[in-house]
Amino acid sequence: SRILVLISGSGSNLQALLDASRADDYPGEVVAVIANKADAYGLTRAENAGVDAIALSHTSFGSREAYDQALIEKIDAYQPDLVVLAGFMRILTPGFVQHYSGKLLNIHPSLLPKYQGLNTHQRAIDAGDREHGVSVHFVTEELDGGPVILQAKVPVFPEDQASDLASRVHEQEHRIYPLVVKWFCQQRLCMLNDQALLDNQPL
Ligand code: GRF
Repeated sequence: SRILVLISGSGSNLQALLDASRADDYPGEVVAVIANKADAYGLTRAENAGVDAIALSHTSFGSREAYDQALIEKIDAYQPDLVVLAGFMRILTPGFVQHYSGKLLNIHPSLLPKYQGLNTHQRAIDAGDREHGVSVHFVTEELDGGPVILQAKVPVFPEDQASDLASRVHEQEHRIYPLVVKWFCQQRLCMLNDQALLDNQPL
């Protein structure tokens, strides 16, 4: 399967996907990486892996719709089977989300439905949570609200700072995102009526 990855920053999840997809039996291939920021380090990771790396800055577009339309054109040129959001820090328009419905995945650093939006690690600490984690989900029009496919939990220790928790969560992100992408590429995963199915079983 052809995978296209959207990023805004460091791209450590992109790296995990690039590494996983190097295995001979991995059923997908990253065909391009697009960032909305020209200085996103993930673009360098893509180049180092020999993958097309494209910067499409949002700043010169007059509206969210105009940017998303330009993004759609760039993406569709690669005819991807799957579009993977990996730290793409932009809210997508309904038109964009509908265009890729059922083939758009996101990773969010919380145990959804808890802590949609930003600063999830600090919010988990402030709430006194004993556990925290990460969720991979299909993207729907509701921000961080689409059906969850897989979660991983981590403990929260009393002395944790947000950065401690972030690195603990990142380790799990790098484990579960390539796994879910693999399931998708194996055609074991789909979204039906806003419900995620694995091997035809509701998740
Ligand atoms: C991750 O924490 C991910 O859950 C969130 O954005 C971050 C991206 O990190 N959506 P990286 O760029 O993959 O290192």
